[in-house]
Amino acid sequence: MNADDVLAALRGVIDPELGDDVVSLGMVRSVSVDPAAAEGGPPGGDEAGSGHVAVELALTTEGCPLKVQLRKDVEARVGAVAGVTSVKTTFGVMDREEKTHLMDRARAKAQEGAPATDIPGTCKVVAIASGKGGVGKSSVTANLAAGLAQRGLTVGVLDADIWGFSIPRMLGIDEKLEVTGTAESWSMAPVEVAIGSGRVKVVSMGFLAGETEAIMWRGLMLNRALQHFVEDVSWGAMDYLLIDLPPGTGDIQMGLARMLPRSEVIIVTTPALAAQTVAGRAADMARKGHLRVAGVIENMSAFVCEHGTSYPLFGAGGGARLASQVGVPLLGQVPMEPAVAAGGDEGRPAVLGDGPAAEAFRELARVVAEEAVPVVEVTGCSAASILASL
Ligand SMILES: Nc1ncnc2c1ncn2[C@@H]1O[C@H](COP(=O)(O)OP(=O)(O)O)[C@@H](O)[C@H]1O
Ligand SMILES: [Mg+2]
Repeated sequence: MNADDVLAALRGVIDPELGDDVVSLGMVRSVSVDPAAAEGGPPGGDEAGSGHVAVELALTTEGCPLKVQLRKDVEARVGAVAGVTSVKTTFGVMDREEKTHLMDRARAKAQEGAPATDIPGTCKVVAIASGKGGVGKSSVTANLAAGLAQRGLTVGVLDADIWGFSIPRMLGIDEKLEVTGTAESWSMAPVEVAIGSGRVKVVSMGFLAGETEAIMWRGLMLNRALQHFVEDVSWGAMDYLLIDLPPGTGDIQMGLARMLPRSEVIIVTTPALAAQTVAGRAADMARKGHLRVAGVIENMSAFVCEHGTSYPLFGAGGGARLASQVGVPLLGQVPMEPAVAAGGDEGRPAVLGDGPAAEAFRELARVVAEEAVPVVEVTGCSAASILASL
């Protein structure tokens, strides 16, 4: 681990107001890596696993309300780099020259012909990952989206399971997307549905079954579908974007790290040991891409019958073991329950109904929204006021 690895990780820290990463914005004043023999490391102190990192960030104003958020993000991202044992973040205030650079960069980015993506800078991007298929990744995505919408939030769902899409069915959407343009240059708007007092906006290959679209997508586009979903979809305002990843740790996962380095990852596992071992690979993948793992969800936990007897059909404890192995919180446990499968088939996510699984999904949405990946409040740090003071 060296300063370059730390800088790569810092590229995942986005200033939510300016919509760009802290490295590009010139906010990183210094990075120092101390091999920390002082902490009792081996002589020479260069063994991976003993590095203390200090990062200094320059802020636009002393009392920037984003300070707490930036510190948390820096410490989470840098702390996830292999070999880092501690992270210390200090803050300075930008001088006039630094501010000018920052605003030039922010302006240039805003003026670039086509923005790289229409996903707002304040939107939290959460990828739902698993080592293997069939653990309930899409069910968790659909229910978490509906659960967050029930809280009044606007939630995008990007169905990145290109070959095995199931989100349209699970959310009960059988519309077709309007695509305008040619194979080289086109755009489309997500399909939007109202849930509770919120909204869910979905993009999936499942919407593109029309003949023109099918031809458009074949070959040329299919292998770059994720990129198109990120770059060419007019997402508009969103609090969260959930990405239902295909199972495994392949190209799409690494592509995500490249295209949306601010993504955070939630790993779904079943209680079984084997699933937990495989899911551990999804965590390794996330870390290689410098993506923060926000937590683990155990799905298909013990089925509780109407008499209250608990049947751990798929074993027990896998979620907690994986969470402690990765060093992240266990965000929730969703029991095995016929209502989850039925809700998926009927297009009405279980979270909108009653029962233990519905409650578990509602609690999961609360934990995500309030604790694990809270929405950023952007107030008082206005770019407009900085511009005015230059
Ligand atoms: N908690 C649960 N209880 C009962 N059935 C579930 C549960 N979670 C998922 N399922 C069912 O298991 C199957 C696989 O789930 P799915 O979400 O498609 O997994 P993945 O996206 O990981 O492949 C689906 O038929 C789904 O309805
Ligand atoms: Mg799936």
